[in-house]
Amino acid sequence: MIVHRLPNPFNPGSPVDPTDFVGRVSELENFKQKLMQTANGSLASMAVAGGYGVGKTSFLHKCKAIAEEHNALAIYCSLNEIDELSKERLATFLIRRVKEKVREEKILERLSNEIFKVIQRIRIKTEKVEISLVEGEEEAFPNLQSALTAAWKALKGTKNAIVFLIDEARVLERNRAELLLYLRAVLEQLQIERIPVMIIPAGKLTITGPAGTGFSPLVRTFPPAVIENFTEEEAASFITKKLKQVGIGVKESIFEKVYNVTEGHPFVLTAYMNSAYSRLQSGQKKLENLHFEAADVDFVRVDLAPFFARFYDQAGRISRQVLSAMADMPKGEISLSELAKKLGLEMNELSPHLGKLVQDGSIIRIDRGKYKLFHHLLGEYIKNKQKKNRE
Ligand SMILES: Nc1ncnc2c1ncn2[C@@H]1O[C@H](COP(=O)(O)OP(=O)(O)OP(=O)(O)O)[C@@H](O)[C@H]1O
Ligand SMILES: [Mg+2]
Repeated sequence: MIVHRLPNPFNPGSPVDPTDFVGRVSELENFKQKLMQTANGSLASMAVAGGYGVGKTSFLHKCKAIAEEHNALAIYCSLNEIDELSKERLATFLIRRVKEKVREEKILERLSNEIFKVIQRIRIKTEKVEISLVEGEEEAFPNLQSALTAAWKALKGTKNAIVFLIDEARVLERNRAELLLYLRAVLEQLQIERIPVMIIPAGKLTITGPAGTGFSPLVRTFPPAVIENFTEEEAASFITKKLKQVGIGVKESIFEKVYNVTEGHPFVLTAYMNSAYSRLQSGQKKLENLHFEAADVDFVRVDLAPFFARFYDQAGRISRQVLSAMADMPKGEISLSELAKKLGLEMNELSPHLGKLVQDGSIIRIDRGKYKLFHHLLGEYIKNKQKKNRE
């Protein structure tokens, strides 16, 4: 088989390579500033909040790359595989990740064997002792802050900060943000001795979310960078950058169409471009209207189905009714009173469902008692589903 063109540069399923990252300029600036502050002994952390597919993981990867450029030990990890997270487990997990990272750095010869050996000995006391390889050589610390302090003592002189980028961190908010409060306390302890550690939880976080959870002391330790859809310019630069790498051009007039369809939602945009790109015939050097028209046919029903299913198919019965009612409205907008009338339910019956839908990111509260589907294509997806059910 002859391969006629370079592989599709649009991969909706994976975070973007930091070198291809576009936009989020002020958020990145903010991160850099906090990193500098931390390195100077005045600890500053932050959080990264945003809906599904909006670019949280990509943002963390970018921050990691920046932190490494600035000579920090940057650790990316995700909490999604850990169940029953407790303080002890979290502490152990983070220390293990430090060890793994240091091990990688040693293999790459960016850290010395001496540092490696010191760090590998660190253990938190509560950690169940597994079969220790080097008997008696472990050093057990009572808590996370003392273990991190020990790690830092080995690293300083070589590194200028330890940065944790914690993805899928919503679990930290359970039980009234118990684990976030714990991390805050750890950071406060580290501040006393100016141990430069930065912790960045990211996810569909709510404490920091927009719906005005009021004054939360956590916001001061973890002020959120809220990641949103791309602007039209960011979307255009995203498209241009990716296509340039594979030597494919694009008609200027396409940008507006793509933006209107995708609303600049990073995942939706990437999926749309992926689909249009896959319609290129061999020898074609430019993406044109026809490629996008071909993409349009199946885009919502096929390409976006796995993404949208979580919002609709997996929702409860009443939530699905709410979403369906919204899908029928122009722009997917509805007021609480209209909704109640349409569904024949009391407003106070609906409220908890709306609250949950907002939390899940399926709808957005645009004003007092006014709601909107988070993406207009979700409305289309729902209407498709209903049509199919009727058939
Ligand atoms: N700043 C960016 N520049 C270029 N592409 C981006 C950017 N942010 C996100 N993307 C693209 O958008 C898609 C979704 O990004 P990502 O996986 O980072 O989002 P997420 O918020 O972590 O998603 P999820 O909620 O599923 O964890 C990916 O295909 C990614 O490549
Ligand atoms: Mg992610």
